[in-house]
Amino acid sequence: EETLDRIGRMPKVELHLHFEGAAPPSFIRGLAKEKKVDLSRIFRPDGSYDYRDFWHFLEVYEAATSVLKTPEDFARLCRAVLEESAANGVVYSETFLSPDFCGGGDVSAWKDYLLAIRETAEEAERDLGITLRGIVTAIRHFGPDKARQTALCAAETAGDWLTGFGLAGDEKKGKQRDFTWAFDCAREAGLRLTSHAGEWNGPQEVREAVEDLGVERIGHGVRAWGDRAVVDMLAEREIVLEVCPGSNVFLGVFPSLAAHPIAKLRKAGVKVTVSTDDPPFFHTTMRREFEDLAKTFHWDEEVFDELNRTALDAAFCDAATRDAVL
Ligand code: ADE
Ligand code: ZN
Repeated sequence: EETLDRIGRMPKVELHLHFEGAAPPSFIRGLAKEKKVDLSRIFRPDGSYDYRDFWHFLEVYEAATSVLKTPEDFARLCRAVLEESAANGVVYSETFLSPDFCGGGDVSAWKDYLLAIRETAEEAERDLGITLRGIVTAIRHFGPDKARQTALCAAETAGDWLTGFGLAGDEKKGKQRDFTWAFDCAREAGLRLTSHAGEWNGPQEVREAVEDLGVERIGHGVRAWGDRAVVDMLAEREIVLEVCPGSNVFLGVFPSLAAHPIAKLRKAGVKVTVSTDDPPFFHTTMRREFEDLAKTFHWDEEVFDELNRTALDAAFCDAATRDAVL
């Protein structure tokens, strides 16, 4: 019990957090009320988000984001998200942001949203002790044309706070290679790269993210387990997996945490890290992720130190920021 409590209270580094997906349902309900938008269909009677499966989750997610309209709304969201993360021991966090949800992908509007988020993050860094960095994220099911526009937004604003480019959304739509133009554009702007792969599709999807897009990290990647050659490729090339165990179990990617391959991937030499994905949607927190992993796999504090260190080494920030975190 004592060890479990110590693990729960450890400082934590999180690499995979969707900004809009981190919005507490009460926050979204409050905004909907202010803006007189009827969002009752996306909430259960107990106030939590209501959806049937991953694809319905994407719809509910978009409906929830529809009430986030102004830069001020995003600033308030940023504060709420960072307070929750800090309360769960997170000291460094990287978050996926989508210009598509910030004024519709127009570059001049995007700059205003980004400034509001960044200013709030800097304030939170001073008074909550949590450091945030942004990863601009294209949405796969919005298609390659939208992703190009997203990459141009990202390239315009690439800098010391906005440090990465990624791809999220419905993995069953299109291919990784449909997004090579967007990823090349982002890379040329100095952004570091990650893509969601191997959450819903199998090992081949993970291979394609690495080979076709040249990413250094993979969102999820857990379904690489099952193809030894892909697992070995990840280990050899030191590709870092942003594993979100609670999300995977909640969405049914694996039937239970005990059946989740995170421990086996780690044993096979793959660099694994732990994140929450969309915490209120999956009823999780970083503290809960650490505690559940400790209980299920009998991991001690040394393992969690290693996970934090791996995450920080793979973080899309400069060395000075890294050194100040842990
Ligand atoms: N967007 C938000 N959460 C996601 C997930 N788990 N997979 C793909 N896209 C997402
Ligand atoms: Zn994700």
